[in-house]
Amino acid sequence: MAVRRLHLQQPASFAFTPDNLEWARMVIARFPEGRQASAVIPLMWRAQEQEGWVSEPCIRVIAEMLEMPNIRVLEVATFYTMFQLAPVGKKAHIQVCGTTPCQLRGAEELIEICKRRIHHDPFHLSADGDFSWEEVECLGACVNAPMVQVVKDTYEDLTPASFEALIDGFAKGTPPAPGPQNGRTFSMPEGGATSLTDIAAILRGPANRDTGPVQGDDQAPLEKGKPHETRTDQQASDAPGARAAEGKTPLKGEDVAAATPKIAGTAPEPAAASGASDGKDRGDTVPAGTAPAGTNG
Ligand code: FES
Repeated sequence: MAVRRLHLQQPASFAFTPDNLEWARMVIARFPEGRQASAVIPLMWRAQEQEGWVSEPCIRVIAEMLEMPNIRVLEVATFYTMFQLAPVGKKAHIQVCGTTPCQLRGAEELIEICKRRIHHDPFHLSADGDFSWEEVECLGACVNAPMVQVVKDTYEDLTPASFEALIDGFAKGTPPAPGPQNGRTFSMPEGGATSLTDIAAILRGPANRDTGPVQGDDQAPLEKGKPHETRTDQQASDAPGARAAEGKTPLKGEDVAAATPKIAGTAPEPAAASGASDGKDRGDTVPAGTAPAGTNG
């Protein structure tokens, strides 16, 4: 990036318009006493919107309003490339993104058009003073490359033809609407939506979608680490949500344990058989040889 310096020719003075001055005072008042310097970027941006660029008198006025040294405001103005330090085109200053995605999609052709229609070199005014241009780094709309920015608006999915039309529009005072210039919405697929196209199914929601019975593979995430056979219809209907829907109270842990069929080789040893529990008061032990049908305990 070239060294950024103030332009050699400067205006004699700068003043915000009454509306912008009122707006600037409102912005400054947002910050606590002693922190007015935090308003430096919004004020300089508003000044640039008003004048097209940031001049040396403008820097002095803003420094005085914010009680900052002039050099501090100058530092901000020269650091951020969004601030123009020289006069720009009255109708448009076109920032052409020249970073890789835009370059691969035709940015160089757009720059050639700028050279032909505006000026051979960036930051120079066109013969009528209406236009200027520069090449900038990625402006964050790579998915809609190639693109250009004019002030705060981006014009995307450009072709040489649509870019020429864009310049014509600014010249006539009727620029096209910002955004993609090829008709697509934002960064949606150019040929239209390719997924989530069944709006009726989306509105029905997953519970009512006609997708057929749940398959083993579909169920796997729900039963991570367990064999599918352990989830029975009985267990599903015993789920707290299902019982609540039927007006029933949730099952207690011991009720679930007693009602759950045990799978061969997975049941714990009966407490009574191991002698590890007194079992007398709760009655939750099963003497050897008296296990209910369906268990192997
Ligand atoms: S590369 Fe051009 S917007 Fe990102």
